[in-house]
Amino acid sequence: MDLSTTYLGLRLPNPLVIGASPLCDDLDMVRRLEDAGAAAIVMHSVFEEQLTREREHTAAALAAHVDAFAEASSFLPRPAEFHLAPDEYLEQIRRIRAAVAMPVIGSLNGVTAAGWLDHAKRIQDAGASALELNVYYVASDPGEDAAQVERRTLDIVRSVKRAVAIPIAVKLSPSFSALSHFARELEAAGADGLVLFNRFYQPDIDIAALEIRPVHHASDPSELPLRLRWLAILSGQRARLDFAATGGVHDAHDVIKAVMAGAHAVQLVSALLVHGPQHLRTVHDNVARTLDELGYASVAEMRGCMNLARCPDASALERANYVRVLHSWRDKP
Ligand SMILES: Cc1cc2nc3c(=O)[nH]c(=O)nc-3n(C[C@H](O)[C@H](O)[C@H](O)COP(=O)(O)O)c2cc1C
Repeated sequence: MDLSTTYLGLRLPNPLVIGASPLCDDLDMVRRLEDAGAAAIVMHSVFEEQLTREREHTAAALAAHVDAFAEASSFLPRPAEFHLAPDEYLEQIRRIRAAVAMPVIGSLNGVTAAGWLDHAKRIQDAGASALELNVYYVASDPGEDAAQVERRTLDIVRSVKRAVAIPIAVKLSPSFSALSHFARELEAAGADGLVLFNRFYQPDIDIAALEIRPVHHASDPSELPLRLRWLAILSGQRARLDFAATGGVHDAHDVIKAVMAGAHAVQLVSALLVHGPQHLRTVHDNVARTLDELGYASVAEMRGCMNLARCPDASALERANYVRVLHSWRDKP
């Protein structure tokens, strides 16, 4: 079975990509993932806060006024809260490149272009084949409208695109109000691909301590349909962009659905953290077997067969399906 695909200019033997996570931190794990069928690996992110902290510490050391910026930076995570310091991160890219054949995709996570550009270039020079930009941003300022939020991300994409030669993908949150328009703007700004979707962590409240508790739950496949909807809409509209699904891909059927909806690649994290690297081999082999059973000769033949490229009005289709679902709640599955 020909499972090959292309993603961000990379020719991959199959669509299974290890998503941004600590799975890249341990070389033995990286080797086991490649042995189990991984086609590429995304590094966990270098966070803008890490780079900001490094700059502030340097500035503080020079000015010897450590307290002057202490309050302003009090929300920033401490260096120890990050897996790898920025320089170690670059070294880890080099180590992975030396240890395995699969391509490495770097990841930057932040909300402004300032300060990352140097690092984007360094990630490229360390051997990354592509770069994922994760603009993790909760738009909580009432003075900032949706156009400003989008513009900031577009500025980042334009700046990073100018700074590096490798392809860049933007990892989006599902919370944009006009995603089709925004995807068109991202393509015009230079994005080569979109990764759908970032998961926001879900804050909880400790009612005794009166503290916010950032909790992270492993995903489950119920998160996939949101991705399928937008993969089907956007991949049908933006033929020049590559798409990756992230969030809720746990088994072979999830992979096949995402590819049918238009994904060039699928990223897995939670399923591998829960079941271990061997799970990828099961997913890989089950994708091949199921494609055969469904009568496809290749992933390329199947890709996008369920996208909405030929649908003249995806919004009307969505409303029709919505009404149908509301009327069918009594029906037996
Ligand atoms: C422990 C952990 C660390 C992660 N670190 C990052 C990160 O550094 N950058 C990023 O863009 N996404 C990060 N993610 C998000 C994953 O890349 C992925 O988008 C998300 O987990 C959804 O995929 P899944 O359903 O396969 O878990 C992380 C996820 C987990 C579970």
